[in-house]
Amino acid sequence: MQRTYNFNAGPSALPLEVLEKAQKEFINYNETGMSVMELSHRSNEFEGILLNAQQNLRELLDIPENYEILFLQGGASLQFSMIPMNFLAADQTAGYVLTGSWSEKALKEAKKMGKTAVIATTDENKYRSIPKQNEIILPKDTLSYLHITSNNTIFGTQWHQYPELDGIDLIADMSSDILSKKIDVSKFSMIYAGAQKNLGPSGVTLVILKKELLDRIPDQLPTMLDYRTHVKSNSLYNTPPTFGIYMLSLVLEWVKTQGGLEGIEQKNHEKAALIYNQMDAYPDFYRPHAEKESRSLMNITFTLPSEELTQEFLSQAKEAGFVGLNGHRSIGGCRASAYNAVPLEACQALAHFMETFRKRFL
Ligand SMILES: Cc1ncc(COP(=O)(O)O)c(C=O)c1O
Repeated sequence: MQRTYNFNAGPSALPLEVLEKAQKEFINYNETGMSVMELSHRSNEFEGILLNAQQNLRELLDIPENYEILFLQGGASLQFSMIPMNFLAADQTAGYVLTGSWSEKALKEAKKMGKTAVIATTDENKYRSIPKQNEIILPKDTLSYLHITSNNTIFGTQWHQYPELDGIDLIADMSSDILSKKIDVSKFSMIYAGAQKNLGPSGVTLVILKKELLDRIPDQLPTMLDYRTHVKSNSLYNTPPTFGIYMLSLVLEWVKTQGGLEGIEQKNHEKAALIYNQMDAYPDFYRPHAEKESRSLMNITFTLPSEELTQEFLSQAKEAGFVGLNGHRSIGGCRASAYNAVPLEACQALAHFMETFRKRFL
């Protein structure tokens, strides 16, 4: 069977090997005579899946022992609210760096909870870049945390060097580049990500949280919105998305077979280069949205010289079997999302298509 060239922004491509393994185990998981979906979340089998996922995450991302690993629901979007509810005290200000629509949304929720400050923004250049270290000027008054979006799914920019902070908790929304490269977890107090790009299917949200942050949580929060609830019950306070966590655990096993994060990162560079090379060779034809030094390896955004040509490109790409190349509805244009599970061949095919299409005009 020919698999589609899937460049969806999320939910997005999953590794074929993972889908095949899930298919094989679908109606009889580990000789239980039941599907994973039919297992109790309190069963030994499911607890084994959960533990395995946590251990593999710890190993792959080299997560230190003083960090909790949680699997929550409500998407990355619920984290926009939970973070200020849990960590923004009345006498403090939460700092946000704005690099796109998702950081704007995170800020909007924090504003409802308390005082906020925009520490840096690139909105004046239509979010084409990431602020430089010297543009991140921290105010003198106490900041409860600084929030960044590590990869901007819509605009196609990515932090390649995280802000260096002294004594301020850094919190990152890594929804669209988690597990795409090695990172130093200890530089962050919290990392969160919706699973539906690099981790698995939608419905699971990964939270990696430094234990000492738990001491800052106020007591009157609704139970489900208090991180301590999920820490105490090891993400089993209520019924978790069991099948999603199982799929995520299979994705982690797959990442290990790809040479871990080093192997994945190298392949991601190779894949993105195929597409960026087409843009760099003819930048007046394939016009990149992101400035070069802020380019994302995950979401590659561009337009063609006119709206008609952009639409022609998208419609012919669709006919040629490419899926998901339309830019986000808020900005239009084209976007190729080359997440971990998108195979090299799909990027080679897209680069070839871009070259053939361009040659008709230039
Ligand atoms: C960077 C980023 N943050 C947050 C979200 C929202 O995630 P969710 O739909 O899981 O709430 C997305 C979704 O695409 C995203 O790309």
